Amino acid sequence: MAKKNRCVTAQVEFLEGFCVEVIETVQEMQQRSEALRSAGQTISLVPTMGFLHEGHLELMRVGKRHSDKLIISIFVNPVQFGPGEDLDQYPRDKEGDLKKARDVGVDIVFMPSVGEMYQEGYQTKVQVENLPQHLCGLSRPGHFDGVTTVVAKLFNITRPHMAVFGQKDYQQLAVISRMVMDLNMDIKILGVPTVREPDSLAMSSRNNYLGAEERKSALSLRKSMDLAGELFQGGEKKAKVIRDAVQSLILSHPFTAIDYIALCDPVTLDDVEVLGDKNLLALAVRVGKTRLIDNCLLQNDSD
Ligand code: PAF
Repeated sequence: MAKKNRCVTAQVEFLEGFCVEVIETVQEMQQRSEALRSAGQTISLVPTMGFLHEGHLELMRVGKRHSDKLIISIFVNPVQFGPGEDLDQYPRDKEGDLKKARDVGVDIVFMPSVGEMYQEGYQTKVQVENLPQHLCGLSRPGHFDGVTTVVAKLFNITRPHMAVFGQKDYQQLAVISRMVMDLNMDIKILGVPTVREPDSLAMSSRNNYLGAEERKSALSLRKSMDLAGELFQGGEKKAKVIRDAVQSLILSHPFTAIDYIALCDPVTLDDVEVLGDKNLLALAVRVGKTRLIDNCLLQNDSD
């Protein structure tokens, strides 16, 4: 029974004897992390908004390999959703998430309520200045302030030595890495390559919104990145030529609308007109009502 008593929520009862530790309060999480640190244990954090898929599980496996204890957070962060975005419809599956977390070997799931994270009177935000002014930040004003604010809070609460993020959210990874550097946070940030479905669609909780026909059209993102890669390897250096080719390919599929197709510097995210040795191709495309993002690096094979 000792193990069971450590679980603070009833939802873990179904796990039949072996439970993953669930912590819901900031104070308890901080004390638990402090105790782990004092005992000389290293901690990895994988922040998530739940509805876990293979992409998240891969981040967790990487976190587990790199530390003694793996903490994940499951928190749908309201402050990173703009008006009219999918906060209310954001998919949730607490029971499924806890099972997956247990199976992958997560040690602690931090699962606070909105009121626990943003107490009455809350009025602070963490803002990276320039990187959010590109790509997704242009159509989602305030989104990255919401991300950096919650991630900084999660770092203060779970006190990790290392935190793991997916390269699929390239801009998010860049913004968080910048925040960690600028604020001298003593946390190593690891970026993990995008995990794809067998049909090549980048894994995302939002894939769930796609109907069968929309899903076929969604594959145009990956096809267009392959085309861009071929053009670049074939010597094409003009961003406009590559952008136009990517756009035509995507728009030749039904239900698609372009939010952006950007060719940019992978560090500053500034647009480039002539491609250099290493470039980021970043896409945001609406397929029906679902907004999908994907990205790849265009770089010389030898790099
Ligand atoms: O990538 C996400 O799921 C979220 O943006 C994150 C990093 C968990 C912050 O809420």
